[in-house]
Amino acid sequence: MALPESFLQELLSKNDIESVASSYVSFKRRGRNLVGLCPFHGEKTASFNLYPETSSFYCFGCGAGGDVITFIKRIENLDYLDAVRFLADRSGMKMPEQSRENDQTSRLRMRILEANREAARLYHGALYRPEGKVALDYYHSRGYTDATIRHFGLGFAPPGWDYLLKGLRAKGFKEEELVAAFLAARGRNGGHYDVFRNRVIIPIIDIRGNVVGFGGRVLDDTKPKYINTESTLAFSKSRNLFALNFAKNEGRELNLCEGYMDVIAMHQAGFTNTVAALGTSFPEEQMQLIARYADRINLIFDADGAGQKATRRAIDNLRRTGLDVRVVTIPDGKDPDEFIQKNGAAAFKLLLDRAANAVEHRLLEIGKTHNILTSEGKLAYYNEAAQILAQLDSPVERDLYAGRLSELLSVSKDAILREVESNRKKKQRQEVRYQLPNLMRKEQRELQQVNPEAVTYTRAASAEEGLLGTLILHPDYIRQVRQVLSPEQVVTEFNRRLYSHLLDRDRQGLLVELAFLAANYDQDGMAYISRMVQEAKEHTVTPEEILRLAAVIREEHALRHLNDPAAVTDDDIQSMLDALRARKQDK
Ligand code: GTP
Ligand code: MN
Repeated sequence: MALPESFLQELLSKNDIESVASSYVSFKRRGRNLVGLCPFHGEKTASFNLYPETSSFYCFGCGAGGDVITFIKRIENLDYLDAVRFLADRSGMKMPEQSRENDQTSRLRMRILEANREAARLYHGALYRPEGKVALDYYHSRGYTDATIRHFGLGFAPPGWDYLLKGLRAKGFKEEELVAAFLAARGRNGGHYDVFRNRVIIPIIDIRGNVVGFGGRVLDDTKPKYINTESTLAFSKSRNLFALNFAKNEGRELNLCEGYMDVIAMHQAGFTNTVAALGTSFPEEQMQLIARYADRINLIFDADGAGQKATRRAIDNLRRTGLDVRVVTIPDGKDPDEFIQKNGAAAFKLLLDRAANAVEHRLLEIGKTHNILTSEGKLAYYNEAAQILAQLDSPVERDLYAGRLSELLSVSKDAILREVESNRKKKQRQEVRYQLPNLMRKEQRELQQVNPEAVTYTRAASAEEGLLGTLILHPDYIRQVRQVLSPEQVVTEFNRRLYSHLLDRDRQGLLVELAFLAANYDQDGMAYISRMVQEAKEHTVTPEEILRLAAVIREEHALRHLNDPAAVTDDDIQSMLDALRARKQDK
């Protein structure tokens, strides 16, 4: 499947990497380039580089790199075509005709979104029919106003087996489409029935305003309490947050609750910057999503055991994204919904304002497990607390908490700070030891996957990478290099393919730029290529240097084939001779 060149050119000119990436990363300018915190791995010091000149990015921390399409592929978790579509949407362009297979998948995805939108209408409409009165009463009994019900598009799936099926069939939807949307299921006898029955319905809307899924709650104590849309072509639990469509416009502070009902109650009480994770596992992708929209996050989990466990896990994971993490503790084991019902919004505001930061929260937590009136208890608390403070990167904060501990334990502040410092040193040594081999391993793994031969033929591969990187940066040299290096002479396979590819594009008069390669390479491939380009950029380009690289490659190719005389070409022999002559001259 190839997209027309003219389409891609227009797409790229309308989506320059700087403006696209800036909506995900906040950058500082450094010379001609921009740097920021990498959105693809958790980090505290900026190693994510954006190069407007070559329309590319590269992270020195995790090795992610590529062009603007690769950027969107990774950050939005899309495949190549969807990433192109995303950028097309962004710049108001229409996608050109597509191949049939992709067309089918994307058509089904669209049908699912259409079915969801119609379903949301039907569910909402059901509230105002006679059989929906129970549900409307239910919402009212939970204190939800009619405005809230409309704002969230809340609804009702009546009892019976086919309220939605009937309604959607009448609108022309096929049963297979509804099964794919998780709205209907297929019974053993081959018939179909509604997934959501006799439940109040909460639509889940993504940041672009699509209805992507639903949560359905029983009106009484029946089990299971909730049924939620499982993954479909249009929905993944881990890539969405409930109510982010509203909350994303409310500034850089977010409240994170456990449940839909908490979020709805919070919004109604005026806390419109509130979202919920869809399920309590809280995967990495959701943290990244949060980090994209917030600098500060208040965790408002239930006070029960599971909620507290979730809080602890979330704190540890979120800290690594560099967010300011606060914890709101709700008294009397309530969830936010119940607390607001009982005590009102103003009381909740007080709780929010008193939100402890992560360190205070942990200090409070460990305080519960030690009795500091005994000397063993005091010592144990002191040791644990010193470890917690050691995790603070800001000296000001370390000093602040050391001061508080010093008062609490009547130990001198200096002694505490010394202990904290020694813990920090120990921790840093461990981290370096842990990270170094990890980084190297990652790098090697990547290389081995993308271009396995580079590990064996290091000299050839490094010349190839230098040459190819330079050619992508300065395509005007391609013609000259073509004269002296044929694709067959490129030693490692990946680079050989890349080189032919560059020659082909050049021959056809097409642009040779990172972005145009994205269709033919996966993420790791693009990362490998963009690393070549980055490294090539650090060298000054002279025609002599380019010819030298080509000569090294020819020489290595000839060496590889010495034992296989049939494969040695006249060119090879000439390169060997040239190389020998050059070496003699060097001496
Ligand atoms: P209310 O009892 O209506 O106030 O609900 P809640 O929002 O307080 O729910 P709870 O704290 O019990 O659960 C929090 C979230 O976990 C819900 O919003 C659901 O997303 C999810 N959840 C709860 N129960 C179930 C269940 O039985 N099945 C599934 N799949 N998810 C559930
Ligand atoms: Mn609740």
